[in-house]
Amino acid sequence: MGHLTGGYGAHPVIVDVALSAASGITALVGPNGAGKTTTLRLITGTLRPEQGDISYGGKSLIGLPPDAIVRLGVVLVPEGGGLFGTMAVEENLLMGAYLPAARSRRHENLAMVRTLFPRLQERRDVMARRLSGGEQQMLAIGRALMACPRLLILDEPSLGLAPAVVQQVAEAIRAIAAAGVPILLCEQNTALALHLAECVFVMERGRIVLEGTAEEIRRRPEVRDAYLGS
Ligand SMILES: Nc1ncnc2c1ncn2[C@@H]1O[C@H](COP(=O)(O)OP(=O)(O)OP(=O)(O)O)[C@@H](O)[C@H]1O
Ligand SMILES: [Mg+2]
Repeated sequence: MGHLTGGYGAHPVIVDVALSAASGITALVGPNGAGKTTTLRLITGTLRPEQGDISYGGKSLIGLPPDAIVRLGVVLVPEGGGLFGTMAVEENLLMGAYLPAARSRRHENLAMVRTLFPRLQERRDVMARRLSGGEQQMLAIGRALMACPRLLILDEPSLGLAPAVVQQVAEAIRAIAAAGVPILLCEQNTALALHLAECVFVMERGRIVLEGTAEEIRRRPEVRDAYLGS
């Protein structure tokens, strides 16, 4: 995407943002209120940009409704997971496969999700809202995988999780990328994002202020001071 500008009212929250997430893990990091979630809303069609372009696989996403964007393979796991709380784990997973193309592949995808998250298999009949925070995040990612993503977008998957659980989620993110699904990871947890991603974009006040490989970004003094505390 390039030159993207948009927001919620008269004043754009996102100004002239360009980023790409073609393969592996790409991270979008930045402090609270920087505009990360707003950027994801613009990409996934729940907000219309004022200017700029967004494309995936050579197709423009501008003006498409959210479900058409999912059909193209761009799938978002929103902050907090967006689960159906009173539905069982397995039902939530199957809801991820509601589009015809995904429905026809639901058995293989379900098997893949069970391999990735054995815990979800153990908890298959439990209501989503009764799961721990870590299990809910795994379920949210699993449900997104049921939609056959060709770009998986994760909004703050580590938020509120205990360090050991963050590690499990991080391993799952790595495994998904290794299986060939590109990932755009939005995180306030900069250390985690730099650890996982190859390519990193730093957003502040609605603009991309730095971009580079994780290695380059990690060495920048302003990043060390502001985000890594070292
Ligand atoms: N629905 C909304 N209506 C109006 N303003 C909003 C709305 N959602 C977010 N904003 C504003 O847009 C700006 C960017 O918010 P956004 O949620 O995109 O940031 P973020 O980088 O995702 O932050 P966080 O790390 O806290 O999730 C903030 O100033 C926020 O107050
Ligand atoms: Mg956010």
